[in-house]
Amino acid sequence: MNGSGLPPRRLLVTGGCGFIGSNFIHFLLREHPDVAVVNLDKLTYAGNPDNLRDLEGDSRYRFIRGDIADADVVEQAMVGVDAVVNFAAETHVDRSLFGADDFIRTDVHGTYVLLRAAQVAGAGRFIQVSTDEVYGDVPPGKRSRESDPLHPRSPYAASKAGGEMQCIAFWETYRLPVIITRASNNVGPRQHPEKAVPLFVTNALRGEPLPVYGDGRQRRDWLYVEDHCRALDLLLRRGEPGEVYNIGADNERENVEVAALVLRELEKPLGLIRHVEDRPGHDRRYALDSSKLRALSWAPRHGFEEALRATVRWYVENEWWWRRVREGDFARFYAAQYGHRLGGATGG
Ligand code: NAD
Ligand code: TYD
Repeated sequence: MNGSGLPPRRLLVTGGCGFIGSNFIHFLLREHPDVAVVNLDKLTYAGNPDNLRDLEGDSRYRFIRGDIADADVVEQAMVGVDAVVNFAAETHVDRSLFGADDFIRTDVHGTYVLLRAAQVAGAGRFIQVSTDEVYGDVPPGKRSRESDPLHPRSPYAASKAGGEMQCIAFWETYRLPVIITRASNNVGPRQHPEKAVPLFVTNALRGEPLPVYGDGRQRRDWLYVEDHCRALDLLLRRGEPGEVYNIGADNERENVEVAALVLRELEKPLGLIRHVEDRPGHDRRYALDSSKLRALSWAPRHGFEEALRATVRWYVENEWWWRRVREGDFARFYAAQYGHRLGGATGG
């Protein structure tokens, strides 16, 4: 794994029990029968073993419960690995507004610990899964390019930018073959219902209001998770070490439009949309220029409406999955985050 175009044989995936990581592991094992995956995941509130339960008994898959900030565990997980894909992170902007200690511990320090272990083990490639949020708010008419300055505005985005800086230091100093990816907002199966789309879908299925922050005219650039996985798989083989790649599908939509599409798909009334108190420091717009990735022959295969429909259908068909998540600790978070916004009418 060296630019040869061949996939790596043995990968360490971190955060594989989360939304994108679990989709990526399924994707890899489906697309590359001879690949073996070690998944290192701390199983925070966001890590869900249900996401990979169908891999139990698959000899190509091994799970290690552990923290990417724990050097001993990471060293063991790294043995025999020829590539690392780091998804592990605290990921929810709203939670980062309550306090960012865990964000800094995992997204910055944890990334450093992983990089250090990869350097010692001589890992062939290290993909740091970052986000378009590091660019901060993007003015109308502009799309972020990889060479743009970073201007993170939330504690989450600042932590992800900090992780990126560690990656750049390891490339510049030690020539560890690091690639940084900055993807836009993903939709797809198995996303935690704290995030906007699954929250809207599951609230609608429960007949509860969809809390849209502020005027709902903020814009996000939506990407189907499978298209994201395909891009990462390509970059594992053909990405240039030391480079940054945006991953976006040119699907800008206003939040209120996304909420309306969810309701239409579920044949629920638009009256369920509830404009609530805005998120402090809310970025109005993200938009990516992904021409650098597209030059490697990547293109999204799923349009936004189709991706959203598939996502909604998945939640309809997997009620057992999201009911379990919403019944746990999530109810407490939901009350703290939405109680005052929705006037106390929060079922969790
Ligand atoms: P997620 O919150 O669904 O999952 C995160 C996973 O990381 C969980 O399984 C959790 O248990 C694990 N984890 C957290 N801290 C850990 C630690 N210290 N050690 C080991 N494991 C730990 O996140 P996601 O939405 O799947 O995002 C995955 C990655 O992609 C993140 O790095 C995120 O910043 C990035 N990203 C996400 C999006 C998106 O739309 N969801 C967009 C762009 C980039
Ligand atoms: P989210 O899924 O939290 O992703 P991010 O903040 O990382 O982009 O939110 C997507 C958009 O939806 C963002 O502009 C915030 C908005 N949003 C709401 O309007 N209501 C909600 O309840 C949530 C969670 C998000």
